[in-house]
Amino acid sequence: MSEIIPHKLIVFEGIDGSGKTTVSKMLFNYMKEKNLPVAWLREPSDSNWGKKIREISRFKTSIPLEEELNYFIEDRKFNVSHNIKPALSQNKTVILDRYYYSTACYQGARGMNMDEIIQMNREFAPEPDITFIIDVDVNIGMNRIKESRNSRVKLFEQKIFLEKVRKNYLTLTGKNIHIIDGNQDLKTILKRIIEILGL
Ligand code: TMP
Repeated sequence: MSEIIPHKLIVFEGIDGSGKTTVSKMLFNYMKEKNLPVAWLREPSDSNWGKKIREISRFKTSIPLEEELNYFIEDRKFNVSHNIKPALSQNKTVILDRYYYSTACYQGARGMNMDEIIQMNREFAPEPDITFIIDVDVNIGMNRIKESRNSRVKLFEQKIFLEKVRKNYLTLTGKNIHIIDGNQDLKTILKRIIEILGL
């Protein structure tokens, strides 16, 4: 069935190294091949806020949590108004690699209240029609992101942090949230997603 699709805003989420970027791009290519109108976007975006976030994470500087949250929110406001809403209004399906559940689960793992973060985002950000959480074991995710292996201590800290993030993802309840076993091969994952979307 190649009919599109009640799902206009499709969100991919998961811990670092979950494979969500690859799978979301595979879905994008699949839809493109079927001549379906589709856009692929990511967060952090390419806004100045997003660039700042990537810089901070590259140099592993740490900033106060409130400030960190603010960067992600400002970046999302930009992405919603400059990229997501325009694409939706051109009747495109938007595939989004990370969205506000990332803020809830990551900044939540740093100690913030997940529900409050979600509420704060819903005030300006359209709700996803469907969300796929690509769930992998933290060890598998970490093996895939070798560049983050700086020292044993960092590795250990990061493992504990990602365990919290993963746990947060698994507590999410909301409209059309699907947890997908990300330990399977990519083709199997894509097939399952296409099945769920009815594409
Ligand atoms: P990426 O590796 O998928 O590009 O994401 C960059 C990092 O930013 C990743 O470790 C998750 C983190 N992040 C947050 O902490 N909060 C957010 O709201 C978003 C969008 C990403």
